[in-house]
Amino acid sequence: MSIFVVEGGIPLNGTVRISGAKNAILPALAACLLTEGKSVLKDVPNLEDVHTMCSLIRSLGAKVNFDTEKREITVETGLLVEHTAPYELVNTMRASFLVMGPLLAKRGKAKVSLPGGCAIGSRPVDLHLKGFSALGATINTGHGYVEAQTRERLKGARIYLDFPSVGATENILMASVLAKGQTVIENAATEPEIVDLATMLVSMGAHVTGAGTDTIRIVGTDKLKPTEHTVIPDRIEAGTFMLAAALTGGDVVIENTMVDHLKPVIAKLRESGVLIDEEFNKIHVTASQSLKAVDIKTHPYPGFPTDMQAQMMAYLCQTEGTSMVVETIFENRFMHVSELKRMGARIKIDGRTAIIEGGVPYMGAQVKATDLRAGASLILAGLCAEGLTEISDIYHIDRGYEAMEVKLKDLGAQIKRVPL
Ligand code: UD1
Repeated sequence: MSIFVVEGGIPLNGTVRISGAKNAILPALAACLLTEGKSVLKDVPNLEDVHTMCSLIRSLGAKVNFDTEKREITVETGLLVEHTAPYELVNTMRASFLVMGPLLAKRGKAKVSLPGGCAIGSRPVDLHLKGFSALGATINTGHGYVEAQTRERLKGARIYLDFPSVGATENILMASVLAKGQTVIENAATEPEIVDLATMLVSMGAHVTGAGTDTIRIVGTDKLKPTEHTVIPDRIEAGTFMLAAALTGGDVVIENTMVDHLKPVIAKLRESGVLIDEEFNKIHVTASQSLKAVDIKTHPYPGFPTDMQAQMMAYLCQTEGTSMVVETIFENRFMHVSELKRMGARIKIDGRTAIIEGGVPYMGAQVKATDLRAGASLILAGLCAEGLTEISDIYHIDRGYEAMEVKLKDLGAQIKRVPL
């Protein structure tokens, strides 16, 4: 177990390279199960969640080699020997549930532990199951597992999602590429990670159109071929570094990013007074003297991402004026608030709304990362706090930020990983 010790007050300067997206590589690894042969995934971030997904697909019969130096994973699949995703792995990472669609499509059966609750909300999987059932699978739940099976090949169907769930869209998309006939997913999620998955599936020979819009059409095929795929850059990591630059009064160039994926974050930071220059795959952030309060409300893409809410709140605590943050995606995603308050933040919560009184300087304190993005918000607060901040439970941060402290140090930050 380690903690991060951050000394605040140093403006960040320099260039940072953004890693491949966690939320793109996890479904990409699951998608490798749809084929036989050797697939290669590139620009893979070295993250705990990626190692967990590698262990899971290994346990299902795939040979997986993660060359962290080359940032490359090769996945060799033959006949899948297993069809069960055990509790130990699904429990540590909800995205493990994404193997269900590919297993069902390829093996005709899948048994996956129910993800259960997690810190940020109950996070059910009803929409995933509704989709599988529409494709002809029989679903049974019991003893903490969901079992889906189909005697014949899955059959294409028209599926309307009650909410544009990212995971459900990905799982149903992966199940339907090998189904018989046409599937239409309506009210589908439109996140860039969905488009990336569809791009990879198309390169494997799948027929998918409309990814990135709310209607995705899939015409099933008999067989898919292995592929080589480079995952998109992580828009949440990029957004977090933009805030780090703005909060510390810094001047930072963020490389390997897709500006289009960051529209809501860029728009809100500009509204707040941050100076931002954009090029196709680069963002230059310069802090201005006066940063103003802005209101945000999280929404599915292209709205403001829930995965940036905690970090944005850490930022808004330092801007001039009062701001309002409304979380519409997850019911319990304000756990960072009590930790930020330990550092001096003035925040009031009413249901899914937080009211932030800005302009109160942070004071370094001992705080705890309660989840991945909450952990990132504490690092941001620590970077501009007076004195030392000690952040514990940083395994949450390691799940989704590659070498966070190394990248920050390269920009001049005083941050250390200290083993306990
Ligand atoms: C993905 C991201 C996560 C991000 C989230 C929302 C990955 C690995 N994770 O998570 O970082 O915060 O999108 O952008 O890509 N829901 C249901 N029934 C379902 C499925 C979801 O009610 O069957 C609800 C959830 O409880 C939640 C909302 O829909 O309130 C959004 O969830 P979803 O879009 O599915 O998020 P994930 O795919 O789990």
